[in-house]
Amino acid sequence: MPHLEDVKRRQFLQYAVLGTMAAALPGFTLAEDRPINDTPDPAFKPDVEVELTAQIAEVSILPGANTRVFQYQGKLLKGPSHSIKTLPGYLGPILNLEHGQKVRIFFYNKLSEPSIVHWHGLHVPQKMDGHPMYEIYKGERYVYEFEVENRAGTNWYHSHTHEMTATQVYQGLAGLITVTDAEEKKLGLPSGEYDLSLVIQDRRFTAGNQFQYGHGMHQRMMGFHGDTILVNGQANSTIPVKSRAYRLRLLNGSNARIYKLGWDGGAPLTAIGTHGGLLEKPETLPYIMLAPAERVELWVDFSGRKPGTELTLQSLEYQGVMSPMGGRRGGMGMMTGGLAPGALFPIVKFQITEQVSDSPSLPNQLVSMRRLTEKDISNVGKTVPIAIGMRRMSFQLNGRTFGMQKHMDVEKIPVNTIQKIRIFHDNQMMGGMGGMGGMGGMGGMGGGMRGGMMGMMGNIPHPIHLHGQQFQILSRKQTRQSDGYDTVKNGFINSGWKDTVLVMPGEEIEILKPFEDFTGLFLYHCHNLEHEDMGMMRNFYVE
Ligand code: C2O
Ligand code: CU
Ligand code: CU
Repeated sequence: MPHLEDVKRRQFLQYAVLGTMAAALPGFTLAEDRPINDTPDPAFKPDVEVELTAQIAEVSILPGANTRVFQYQGKLLKGPSHSIKTLPGYLGPILNLEHGQKVRIFFYNKLSEPSIVHWHGLHVPQKMDGHPMYEIYKGERYVYEFEVENRAGTNWYHSHTHEMTATQVYQGLAGLITVTDAEEKKLGLPSGEYDLSLVIQDRRFTAGNQFQYGHGMHQRMMGFHGDTILVNGQANSTIPVKSRAYRLRLLNGSNARIYKLGWDGGAPLTAIGTHGGLLEKPETLPYIMLAPAERVELWVDFSGRKPGTELTLQSLEYQGVMSPMGGRRGGMGMMTGGLAPGALFPIVKFQITEQVSDSPSLPNQLVSMRRLTEKDISNVGKTVPIAIGMRRMSFQLNGRTFGMQKHMDVEKIPVNTIQKIRIFHDNQMMGGMGGMGGMGGMGGMGGGMRGGMMGMMGNIPHPIHLHGQQFQILSRKQTRQSDGYDTVKNGFINSGWKDTVLVMPGEEIEILKPFEDFTGLFLYHCHNLEHEDMGMMRNFYVE
């Protein structure tokens, strides 16, 4: 089996050669052979028009040398001036959109590797969704045109390049999208400086302050876990706040790390929104599990706190997620300087800097929501499976790894239907591996090692994401008892619209998902980006 590095290198070389060829032949663009959309539609009249360029940049993250990153740089060509908000650091600009707006985005790739952008959480046509088949090369552009059909909420955009999503997002290719609508505006939620967006990511740095990434087996299995937590691209973040209520939008933009969000004093968290927007009413939880790609909106009230006091948002300890090569704990911890999956660490500090006396109060009713039930589904008795399995040291979905336009019969979905989908661990497939016959090169390992590896695979959580419209959770249960589940089980928000669901070891989850408006290929995959890149991704074909 070739090393991942070799595969990447080969890809780079191929792309490099193709790029040179295209440049050398006048009138020849690679685009002609590929389905990329590089011309705007004159009939489409955008309300907002943006230029987004993926390029190399140098930013200051740690004291000392700058860090070389990949960055989306934005420029507003048309529309309200707040439509894009540029941030310090490496993240792309925040796109502030409104329900009903027509948006055109010119995406330019100035990197020496292919790239494409996906609008995670937005309901857009196949051609506008950033499927890896549309990746563009250096010097090319892709034109996105879509109408914002989502309700108010917090979404994001990131690279979705074939087998390079993990490395490109890691190097910086991600940014937030907010959507607002009339219903949300009526609520008078904290806005302006009281509406804070925080993107949580973990990284590792070289001694020279450069991002460090590895392709080893631990990382493939567990996904990348860094030892430095960054919030909006900054380490050791402290955010100055006033003694009043805030709306806090959190995105887990990490490749693989799952956070168990909690306050340092043990106070509960108040959630007002999930991936698909605001909840019907606020929900109070002791802690919140936030898996990669998940967003949560919190109502945080600093009222009554004295200037100078601090409140820390932490990731609390949890168990049940195996650290590779080191038993329950330790292995990963030793490798990463203490930030094992499930370890306790601070994420961000809020420091009260100013006392104010007025603060909005939390509405007890938020927005109306279309509640889906089993009565709404069209696939009665034919639940769509998403079986999580593994073969030859690669994770699979429904027994397959990703093929660019591949889809099986069970992955065909009639358009304008609501489908019931069951996401589960395919233990049979795991059992079917028997004496690990499927695991090629592992044959020579001792029995203890085998047992360890088997345990490890079953104990890896998978944040499963479906493109297109948001879904609702119908049921969630443990089909196999798994250690440590008690330390995470009260942190799931099962109401509200979602586009990603964390499937813990031993868990089985049923969802109800509409597939309305658009036909074509829509991805579903694990949002542990290392898993995604190794092929834990498939297409639904909506027809
Ligand atoms: Cu956030 Cu298919 O991705
Ligand atoms: Cu997505
Ligand atoms: Cu996974």
